[in-house]
Amino acid sequence: MSGVGMLALFAQSASSVSGEVDALFFTLVAITAFFTVGIMVAILFFAIRYRRRSADELPADSHGSTALELIWTLIPLAIVVVVFVWGSKVYFHMNRPPDDAMTVTVVGKRWMWKLQQPTGQREINELHVPVGRAIRLVITSEDVIHSFYVPAFRIKRDAVPGRYSQAWFRATKVGTYHLLCAEYCGTDHSRMQGRIVVMEPQDYEAWLAGGPAPESPLAAGERLFAEVGCITCHKPDSALRAPMLGGIYGKQVLLTTGETVTVDDSYIRESIMSPVAKVVAGYQPVMPTFQGQLSEEQLIALVAYVRSLTAPPGAAPAPGVSKSQARAKGTKS
Ligand code: CUA
Repeated sequence: MSGVGMLALFAQSASSVSGEVDALFFTLVAITAFFTVGIMVAILFFAIRYRRRSADELPADSHGSTALELIWTLIPLAIVVVVFVWGSKVYFHMNRPPDDAMTVTVVGKRWMWKLQQPTGQREINELHVPVGRAIRLVITSEDVIHSFYVPAFRIKRDAVPGRYSQAWFRATKVGTYHLLCAEYCGTDHSRMQGRIVVMEPQDYEAWLAGGPAPESPLAAGERLFAEVGCITCHKPDSALRAPMLGGIYGKQVLLTTGETVTVDDSYIRESIMSPVAKVVAGYQPVMPTFQGQLSEEQLIALVAYVRSLTAPPGAAPAPGVSKSQARAKGTKS
């Protein structure tokens, strides 16, 4: 595959977090090497310096040293606290996609990666992205657990059936990078690989415009919402009472069990597949399951659509979701 260095000792560094990850990693290696060498040298030195020189030689008793114990407690404590704080910083950076990120959906399947651009173009084992732009990945699987792994970006995230995992990256260099599956998933696991093509923004736009006009996940979700019948109950004047979905994304809802749950991708997905699992307080468990009737791509589209819905006019306004009310209203009536 194109000039990606297969034999390089370390993967290329091509995302906004890879430098941070490497700095932390090499610092840990340096700390470990320093103490490993220091301890080995000390063992050798003491073994020779304090070796027993005659058969009846007895060492003097030692009853501890407060100064020494403080030193070997406080120095390691300081080191691990620094590593913890630094590691947490990198962890949060890696796990919080910026607000302006564009969402690419990823479905793992034995043995290929199916990817879809926010504008709807589908790709298999290949993902084109613009350089410098934050890309949020919503990752799931159709069958078994896979793991989406791009060494050059320092990202690896499990693709778990029935669940959405999230990862993000911002590519910093134009080029082609390995995409691998990092979870043993069967016979052709080792061949479940592809590539990420990072392009200049204008090249990316040209690439997007090249194919036939596709249907975006959002548009597909809106279409499915009507086609599979969600709209029959999830509308204000329905005879069957079902929760209104406008503006609920990201909110907490109270369940019949008294627990609360945050409305996120996974909860919406679960509510489509197992509607009786977590019923919102005040409603009856009357919704039928859509298990086996929708593909992963269709589920992702429906979730994207529900995520996009804002509160209908007249409902309690949800903070920060006012910008596209007109559109939401239009789709609901
Ligand atoms: Cu998919 Cu290994």
